[in-house]
Amino acid sequence: MQATAEIAERISSISVSSTMKVAADADRLRREGVDVVDFGAGEPDFPTPGNIKQAAVDAIKANFTKYTNAGGTPELKEAICERHRQDFGTNYSPSECLVTVGGKHAIFNLVQALINPGDEVIIPLPYWVTYKDVVNYAGGKCVFVETDEKNGFEVTAALIERHLSPRTKLVIINSPSNPSGAVIPKDEFRKIFELTSRRDVFLMTDECYCHFVYEDHPFSIAALPGATETVVVAGSLSKTYAMTGWRIGFALAPPPIINAMLKLQSHSTSNPTSIAQKAGLEAMRGPQDSVPEMLAEYRRRRDFVVQRLLDIPGVSITKPKGAFYAYPNISVAFKSGRVKNSLDFSTELLAKSHVAVVPGEAFGTNDHIRISYATSMGELERGLDRLQRFIDSLR
Ligand SMILES: Cc1ncc(COP(=O)(O)O)c(C=O)c1O
Repeated sequence: MQATAEIAERISSISVSSTMKVAADADRLRREGVDVVDFGAGEPDFPTPGNIKQAAVDAIKANFTKYTNAGGTPELKEAICERHRQDFGTNYSPSECLVTVGGKHAIFNLVQALINPGDEVIIPLPYWVTYKDVVNYAGGKCVFVETDEKNGFEVTAALIERHLSPRTKLVIINSPSNPSGAVIPKDEFRKIFELTSRRDVFLMTDECYCHFVYEDHPFSIAALPGATETVVVAGSLSKTYAMTGWRIGFALAPPPIINAMLKLQSHSTSNPTSIAQKAGLEAMRGPQDSVPEMLAEYRRRRDFVVQRLLDIPGVSITKPKGAFYAYPNISVAFKSGRVKNSLDFSTELLAKSHVAVVPGEAFGTNDHIRISYATSMGELERGLDRLQRFIDSLR
């Protein structure tokens, strides 16, 4: 029997995460001794704050090492609701909260719990890679909404309205956006919410980068009156508290949706790691100073990266308003015909100049690359020098 022929069809409806593929390729080169500058990784270069790490050490010492409730401990759910209330003025209770194994898990569980085969899910483009695959896995139909690069890839209610149909079940919004860094202004976000609630469509707001906004105050659409009925918050501690490896995320949603997600979670991962939950509790309840500190550093890096990219003739970029990614248009490099698209470009850039970036293709646009500036200024300088030389070599 051929093992490949036996793989279930639903697995062939999804692809390998391109960001993880870039990380693996860069890692392989590094292990061969190559000096790679890594702009691929979508994770903070800062360590997890000391108080959070200490909470995990204390949890181990106190033998908090057994199963917990599959949906997370009551005290962590309480703390997540309280933090969301303090930060954004929402009013969730623990019965509307599920603790998950990272934010990705919250999104996966939500989509599996909500989407029937043939249901349409609206996904603005460029999109974070995972949305498309989890919708495909559920048998749903992705309906992509193209945003305007000249308008900084901003999603608008009018754009979404044009793509709604009687089959639309869910709209996914990610602001600030991975990969573009676009932030939807509060008024526009309100219009999106009003549109989806009027049309009885669920709105998932992926708040993974919600604390990293440069030009405005963070807000959550879930704070609007009536929002808790149709809005689902997918949250993550990964980026906000530099906790990517701990795998703690959450969902805030109406209880029937939370219960459906919990049912699935109870048969798959069961509880998120007990020790990591204690660390998450400290992140929610402890000092919050590390968040503005990281934000200030990301802003400094963003300004540097954007200026350096604009200094490369033919490269264009709208200044990202949030998250920690730059998404420049590098199609000027295709003119000579030696590289034809963002995948060729990224592959050659890694092979010849040893800089890892993610091709725009992974996010649904072909003229761009994603540069993560969650790395030191020294690395940014080195990598951008190499990128500039690489583009010059293609002219
Ligand atoms: C837009 C977006 N949402 C959600 C996540 C999920 O993060 P995690 O599963 O680490 O919480 C990521 C991670 O890169 C992301 O970029």
